[in-house]
Amino acid sequence: MEKKNLDWANLGFGYMQTDKRYVSNYKDGAWDEGTLTEDTNITLNECACVFQYAQTIFEGLKAYTTEDGHIVTFRPDLNASRLADSARRLEMPVFPEERFIDSIKQVVTANAAYVPPYGSGATLYIRPYMMGTNSVIGVKPAEEYQYRVFTTPVGPYFKGGAKPLTIRVSDFDRAAPHGTGDIKAGLNYAMSLHAIVSAHKEGYDENMYLDPGTRTKVEETGGANFVFITKDNKLVTPKSDSILPSITRRSLMYVAEHYLGMTVEHREVYLDELKDFAEAGLCGTAAVISPVGKVVDHGREICFPSGMAEMGPVTKKLYDTLTGIQMGRIEAPEGWIYRIL
Ligand code: PLP
Ligand code: COI
Repeated sequence: MEKKNLDWANLGFGYMQTDKRYVSNYKDGAWDEGTLTEDTNITLNECACVFQYAQTIFEGLKAYTTEDGHIVTFRPDLNASRLADSARRLEMPVFPEERFIDSIKQVVTANAAYVPPYGSGATLYIRPYMMGTNSVIGVKPAEEYQYRVFTTPVGPYFKGGAKPLTIRVSDFDRAAPHGTGDIKAGLNYAMSLHAIVSAHKEGYDENMYLDPGTRTKVEETGGANFVFITKDNKLVTPKSDSILPSITRRSLMYVAEHYLGMTVEHREVYLDELKDFAEAGLCGTAAVISPVGKVVDHGREICFPSGMAEMGPVTKKLYDTLTGIQMGRIEAPEGWIYRIL
């Protein structure tokens, strides 16, 4: 299979149309068999539930070319079960988890020419999503749904790659207590749009959201979880019911403990504690592990000792181990790597 002639090393995190996408429709209580299509457009009734009441959920995962030339994805079973959790929370039908995996396999295989080569620094981002499609005007869930998956080749989520980020403590919340912060619903991202635009205008890379109940604890950013490294080499990650359970974060907790021999703490993290950490980073499928050099809390600067020039040494070890597993350079725990080609 011949690869597309793209400037892989200079891709940003953007949408590029690839050849095929997967579509399956839900009607009369059942999913159809699903198909690949070249049609990038969706035509829906003006009153579709997704337009009126934002009944839409999504996932994000990546396909990688390994050192020995295979195309793989990373823990897609966890994306399947998180999409199912999101569906249940928004009263949507679950797309069967084994069919989720099969749809990923079909779309990646059909777009294999867009999977960036090993060593290019780029990956193929895979976006599964589902929406309520029939017309609904009284507030209630739809009865008909569409599940789709498209792919797009991507480079780093943050411009500047591994350069440490500056984050501000946000005055806005992305989620409510007992709300939908722990699922991957489009509405959470709509909540964060004003905050990210204003953060960028003020020169910050991202927002640190606090717990919406007390505003004393660290939650996450608009699109990634936090990881912190203590001065005595522990990995600390914030725990809260309104944080998205990041697959990258869960994997890093395992890697830190079982590959790097670190102590791992998944617990509430107070804003007041930030000044004591040695290193900080954002983690997620898109963010991979992006170092944070500085957090600004209403003018008060909290600078991590790892500095603004490069990724901290422990964060770097975590990054190298995780990406080594994903790219086949380091042996993966059982079941983490799903081979497509
Ligand atoms: N938190 C939010 C709000 C996200 O959108 C994402 C991205 O998926 C993450 C965390 C990271 O999750 P994952 O590692 O599963 O991609
Ligand atoms: C992902 O990491 O897959 C996400 O969905 C985050 C998004 C901000 C791109």
